[in-house]
Amino acid sequence: MSPKRTRKPTPKSDGEDSSDSYSDFRHDLKRPRSNSPWNITDNTSADNPPLKIYVLSVKFDATTYQSLVCLVEDCLLRVGKDEHSPATLRRVELSANLEEADVIVTAIRTRPRLERHVNPSLATYMTSLILITDQKSRPIVTAEWLQNSVRSGFLLPCADYAALRDFRKETARLCPDQKQGDVIAPEQLGAPPKPQVFRDPEELVDARDAAALDHTSRYSCQRGSPLSCPNQGLVRELDVIRRCRFVEGEERSVLSYSRAIALTSMAAYPSPITAEKLHSGVAKLPFLGEKILSMIEEYTGAGKIAEAQEAILSSPRFQSLSAFTAIYGIGPHTARKLYALGLRTLEELDRYYEVTPGDASTEAPSHVASDKHYTEEVEAEISIKVGLALRHDFGQLISREEAEEINRVVMEVLASIQEDCKSLIVGGYRRGKPQSNDVDIVITHSDWNSGSKKVKGLSKKLVQVLHERSMFLYFSDLSGFHEHNTLRTHNWDSLEKALTVLCLPSNAGGRRIHRRVDLIFATPEVFWTAVVGWTGSTMFQRDLRLWAKQQKGMKFDSSGISRRRDSKLYFPKSEREVFEILGLAYVHPSLRNADA
Ligand code: UTP
Ligand code: MN
Repeated sequence: MSPKRTRKPTPKSDGEDSSDSYSDFRHDLKRPRSNSPWNITDNTSADNPPLKIYVLSVKFDATTYQSLVCLVEDCLLRVGKDEHSPATLRRVELSANLEEADVIVTAIRTRPRLERHVNPSLATYMTSLILITDQKSRPIVTAEWLQNSVRSGFLLPCADYAALRDFRKETARLCPDQKQGDVIAPEQLGAPPKPQVFRDPEELVDARDAAALDHTSRYSCQRGSPLSCPNQGLVRELDVIRRCRFVEGEERSVLSYSRAIALTSMAAYPSPITAEKLHSGVAKLPFLGEKILSMIEEYTGAGKIAEAQEAILSSPRFQSLSAFTAIYGIGPHTARKLYALGLRTLEELDRYYEVTPGDASTEAPSHVASDKHYTEEVEAEISIKVGLALRHDFGQLISREEAEEINRVVMEVLASIQEDCKSLIVGGYRRGKPQSNDVDIVITHSDWNSGSKKVKGLSKKLVQVLHERSMFLYFSDLSGFHEHNTLRTHNWDSLEKALTVLCLPSNAGGRRIHRRVDLIFATPEVFWTAVVGWTGSTMFQRDLRLWAKQQKGMKFDSSGISRRRDSKLYFPKSEREVFEILGLAYVHPSLRNADA
């Protein structure tokens, strides 16, 4: 059979659904981040140990609980009266152990309920914490204490936030706000920073925003979907079935499983789904049909889903198709064609495409230099060859630090072409993923009025200069085209973009890894819609479109928001405004992880 390579694969969509590495990262639930509004180094020492906060999950809804946990992560708070007096800084840490905590944060407001919700011995112990005046005593406060402290940058007095009103006095006495640590002179602190100014995303999760979300909504853009998930095992099993449907091209089924994964990952939070919960709450969730429900039931009993474990994972066909679609440039359609030609392993694909692993120099033509135009088929084949040759590089996940470095280098190069551009790293990075498969950067010009003209045509110029400086390897010309996929109902967007493979200049650390870097250019008017669209996750973005269309008579995509009846265009000036225009409660980027 003669090999046909006519169907053009979509590098983006293929990369996105090859979720092996994606589900792996989720084992590492601790995200590296700094919430500190203070631009100083950590001064935690033996004399000034971190303040340990225990957030009692009972009675908090999933998103509020998650937002509180996010607040506590790696944050420095100031102990002292105001920003001009000598200050002590204390690192705040999340404690997994109630016994070790210095402060307990809870949603429970009455003593009997506290006793009912936790196991009785613990309850007695907890309430006694504030009755006994020994060393171990510690205050029990409401979520607002934590939120307001982090927002203001100061460790606030606990008394106003005592969870049990009757114990206000004791709470005041036990509050760590007056405890001593290293004293730091105000000048050492530098200029008083504005509270709430953090790295992008600029705001922390606000528990009030989180409380407005509803984890039973049919639209994932109304739910809060944190990175960590209590039903990880179940999600992994469902994801195996989803991937099987994906490689086999069963798009409707892919969508059902994607929706089920997005829903069940958060259902019955904070504890995993049990058979009992399944019948009370989970079964009422939207989109969970009979078949998927019976699989969840099977999982709650057996701890696995037989179809995933026995039929799919052990199937040689699934193994080959999975390996093929994990390659940048190979979509499920191409993968099945290659399989039908009798090809089974990546080494066989190397021979078929005449690729030398690790060497992409012959595969990556310099479109930029030669300004050559290839047919779609040739483009598609080049992209597969690049994907195969560089599969070992592309398989290595990108840390947040490296993503930031790539952004910095790209923006330095861009500054030599056009001044006053600004950028945000979007995609999984912005949703808080510790590691990503590629780097997505949205670029615009800072001038609202004249920026639009200045952004046009920048994509090509930037690629040209990156090429001249030998950082650039390959530029996919497929950016305008996307293989039809139910997860992507329309053309993605009409933004100018360069889907590139870059390799930064070598540093002291030795050879650099080739990285996939998507550069998206947006005029200032649509910068924030582009940021929301490209921050994803894919399911979140898909539901934003659906919500806009079904509930608001509007059209949303990364390149703009418009009203359907009169095509009125909206130009949001902030990310929050995008949500406001769409009539949605704001969802913090770290709560948009609606994919598996
Ligand atoms: P990615 O495929 O880069 O996924 O798309 P990710 O979430 O960053 O995860 P990694 O990179 O695999 O670790 C980022 C987001 O960009 C949007 C989608 O919403 C997707 O979630 N996107 C992607 C578009 O708007 N258009 C496209 O053509 C591709
Ligand atoms: Mn990405």
